[in-house]
Parts: sequence; structure tokens; C-alpha cells
Amino acid sequence: MTNKYMYFIANWKMFGDSKTLKSLGNVIKFVKENKNKKFKIIYCPPSTLITSMSKSFAKSAIQIGGQNCHYEKNYGAYTGSINAKMLKDAGAKYVILGHSENRQNGEDDELINLKAKNSINEGLNIILCIGETFKEKKNKKTFSVLSKQLKIGLKNIKNKKKIIIAYEPVWSIGTGVIPNNEDLFKTIKFIKKKIKYLSNSVLYGGSVNNKNINELKKIKNLDGFLIGGASQDVKKFIDIIQKTYN
Ligand code: PGA
Repeated sequence: MTNKYMYFIANWKMFGDSKTLKSLGNVIKFVKENKNKKFKIIYCPPSTLITSMSKSFAKSAIQIGGQNCHYEKNYGAYTGSINAKMLKDAGAKYVILGHSENRQNGEDDELINLKAKNSINEGLNIILCIGETFKEKKNKKTFSVLSKQLKIGLKNIKNKKKIIIAYEPVWSIGTGVIPNNEDLFKTIKFIKKKIKYLSNSVLYGGSVNNKNINELKKIKNLDGFLIGGASQDVKKFIDIIQKTYN
């Protein structure tokens, strides 16, 4: 871990309902009791919970993010979609873009770039997910894939301060398999060199849990974690944060 603020971002995916919110009291308490630690916690629930979560976290340092949004700036006839303006209005300060689960459903780098530009113009911070598939890794294409995702995804974005990168190898999402520390260090170093703006935080995501965090936290250039499955359980999520600092 670096000496910057460490991010712990909870990506709830399509999980969670009003009952789940009750468990959040523990994380609010935890954050209050650990004010002296340099971390930022961001919850990215499904859109249905953004407003109620914002209310739950109103007096806490915990912030909210959306999991995706439409590229269109204005309101429009896009059934089932929400845009950055709506996310902001509901209480979000961040939005995850380019998650591989959405890339697999047809989102390409150009579309992700439109979303990124519009989200930043609306004042949101973006968490841009990039990562290679197992086949690309096997064919030694990791760096070229990441370069392309960064180059097109971040094209013509002037306000660089609002960008966080999450390196999420597709083969480690939800599989329990994580890259080894040496590979991860090299990949994060490569990403940081590519984006050139050293102040941007680069996170790792993919099967992070309260067991492998003891290894992952040793990686010196990582600025935090994007956590899926393990973030849905408040105890496990808090455990991950605590272990990072122990
Ligand atoms: P996981 O998901 O932690 O369940 O692997 C991470 C993600 O998809 O962001």
C-alpha cells in the first residue's frame, strides 16, 4: 500500500435490498472510530438503494457511487437507464465505469469514454475499470489491452483529478484466483506510468477477501481495492480494512 489515502470501494453489483441497509450501522460506527486512519470508503449499491444509502451515510464520511450510467448528458427516452446527472441528484459522488461485466455485454472503450466525459462534466469522480481476459493474459497481451482501454477510455478528459483506475483482471473477478504480488506490482506500475498523473489512485479488484488481503496489502504501489462479493457482508468488509492496517 502507498502512503496516500487508501480506497475501499464496495461494489454490490445486483445484490441488496432495503433489509440489507440495516447492517450498515456497523460500518458507520467503524468509520467514526477510525477517523485517524487514511482511508476512503465508497459504497456502490444498485441504483434502487442510492437515495436511501445517502440518507444512512449523511453524517458519515462514507460516500456513494453508482455502478454505471448512460452516456447521454440530458434526460431522454432511454427506458431502464439513468445518467450521471441523476446519480448525482440521488447522492452519488462517484461512478464505476467500464466494469468487465458491462464490457462483456457489449460496452466498448468509445462508449465508456462518452460516459466518462459526461460523468466528469457533471462533477462525478469516475472509477474506470480495466483488465485483460485470461486468453489475453496467456497470449501476453495484458499491457497492450490495458494501454488501449486507458487511451480510448480517457481520451479528451481534461479534469484528470477526478479519475481513479481499478485494475480488475477479468479472470480474477468472482473466481477466487488473484494475480501474484510481483505481477500485480508490475501491472500497477505500468498503469501509473501510462496515466502519467502520479496523483491518480490505482486500485486492484478481483476476489479480494479477508484472507488474501494479508498478501495483497504488501504491494507497495497499490492505492486501494474494489471489492465485490466480500463487500456485501459488512463484517468481512470491515475485516478487510482492519487487516490492511494491522
Ligand atoms: P469480486 O468482484 O470481488 O466479487 O471478485 C470485484 C468486482 O467485480 O468489482
